[in-house]
Amino acid sequence: MRITVLMGSPNKNGSTGILVESFKKGAEQSGHSVEVIDVCHADVHPCIGCVKCGYEGPCVRKDDVGKIRQSLLSSDMVVLATPLYYYGMTAQLKAVVDRFCAYNSSLNRRHLRSALLTVAWNSADWTFDALESHYKTLVRYINFEDMGMVLGYGCGSPSMTRNSEYPDAAYELGRSL
Ligand SMILES: Cc1cc2nc3c(=O)[nH]c(=O)nc-3n(C[C@H](O)[C@H](O)[C@H](O)COP(=O)(O)O)c2cc1C
Repeated sequence: MRITVLMGSPNKNGSTGILVESFKKGAEQSGHSVEVIDVCHADVHPCIGCVKCGYEGPCVRKDDVGKIRQSLLSSDMVVLATPLYYYGMTAQLKAVVDRFCAYNSSLNRRHLRSALLTVAWNSADWTFDALESHYKTLVRYINFEDMGMVLGYGCGSPSMTRNSEYPDAAYELGRSL
């Protein structure tokens, strides 16, 4: 399987990155190829809602989303990886998701498998309620097939994350595919 990870943390060596690396290792050990796209350091502009794409067509914005679009449409699985920012995904990752607008139908037809990798400082049981609900709604709307979520409670720093159970959970998710 070809797997594209949309890495939505601005910290290249942060907690989200730890889960992404563990997931990648597990998936590669099971024979999958994994491409990690660092969306925070890519040239990605937010959707301006002009709808010149007609919800399926060329986007007026000429930036790295063209390459991201090609990667996703030639993949079998997408992984959304993000730290929790104000109980949602980062704005950088959301910008990429909003730009799905210009290839919504083709993405829908592709019926990608999907997963969510996320970390947060908070460890209360409601920490991921909003993000989990958003992710599940996207899965339903874009016709993804959810393969699992790793919700990293109490992962506020790289050392907290390394000492938690979540890197192993991300590895197992990748290996189980
Ligand atoms: C702008 C910002 C917003 C955040 N919002 C939340 C939040 O709503 N809930 C929470 O538990 N942690 C929040 N955090 C903490 C991060 O999710 C947490 O530190 C995470 O480990 C950062 O991951 P990273 O190392 O990949 O950047 C926030 C951090 C930042 C910088």
